[in-house]
Amino acid sequence: MALYLAIYTLIACLGAGALVNAQQPTQKGISQELFDRFSFFAEYAAGCHDGVDCGAGNCLNVTSANTTTIAEFNSTSLYNQGVSGFVLLDHTHELIVLQFVDPPGILEDLVQHQKNVTLAPVTKAMAQYRNYKIVFVGHSLGAALATVAAAEFRTYGHNVTLYSYASPSVGNYELSELISTQAQGETYRLAHCNDIIPRILCNGAGPPFFPDYSQLSPEY
Ligand SMILES: *[C@@H]1O[C@H](CO)[C@@H](O)[C@H](O)[C@H]1NC(C)=O
Ligand SMILES: *[C@@H]1O[C@H](CO)[C@@H](O)[C@H](O)[C@H]1NC(C)=O
Ligand SMILES: *[C@@H]1O[C@H](CO)[C@@H](O)[C@H](O)[C@H]1NC(C)=O
Ligand SMILES: *[C@@H]1O[C@H](CO)[C@@H](O)[C@H](O)[C@H]1NC(C)=O
Ligand SMILES: *[C@@H]1O[C@H](CO)[C@@H](O)[C@H](O)[C@H]1NC(C)=O
Repeated sequence: MALYLAIYTLIACLGAGALVNAQQPTQKGISQELFDRFSFFAEYAAGCHDGVDCGAGNCLNVTSANTTTIAEFNSTSLYNQGVSGFVLLDHTHELIVLQFVDPPGILEDLVQHQKNVTLAPVTKAMAQYRNYKIVFVGHSLGAALATVAAAEFRTYGHNVTLYSYASPSVGNYELSELISTQAQGETYRLAHCNDIIPRILCNGAGPPFFPDYSQLSPEY
């Protein structure tokens, strides 16, 4: 298990730079509005926050917005001692954003971030900014954390929109189905067709090598 996670983290890290350096995507089969939204939240998924660009002018929508960081979470993992997540207020777009940065460290973080320590600042901000939309977003391993956090927060009755970019699978078919159909907010999982990360635990790679993982549906 530890070996799988280590390999998987390595691959995820190698892939992390690709998000913002990729060719400009083209819109196919989805509305322009949805395409624009996906492009916008990709900036948050790429780690842009509070005036910090995600890379060479690629995150202008977020850097030019009026945003404030109200909480940050540090990784406890041996692999990454840095900041692994933020709660941001985006006053321009009236959003409360929970953003996980990739790579967030591995299993310890998954366990840590499921606790209310992550969700408490969101709950607090909600009380103050009642009309703001709640959005959880992340890329790669960060997307996996955002998915688990959104699933949990929804079980408390809150509406959360999830934007998941290049997430590995977070669980089996039953869990994926449950999260995909949660009524509290919309779920958007995006994947590049050539990216191995979203497929690495699925696609027949099931037992005995990996547990029987599945993915959220639909895939954009
Ligand atoms: C992002 O920036 C582009 C170019 O400046 C603009 O056309 C678009 O409306 C912006 N999107 C959002 C959500 O602010
Ligand atoms: C950003 O938004 C906050 C909350 O609405 C407001 O108090 C502040 O003045 C805004 N800052 C700028 C630079 O617009
Ligand atoms: C998180 O780590 C950064 C350095 O990576 C440090 O500056 C910051 O104080 C830490 N924050 C918390 C809440 O521990
Ligand atoms: C976590 O926070 C939510 C509110 O956001 C609350 O409803 C729930 O009871 C809390 N769970 C625990 C285990 O403290
Ligand atoms: C939550 O989101 C759903 C759609 O995803 C919407 O129908 C419902 O009205 C929302 N509830 C609240 C309290 O905003």
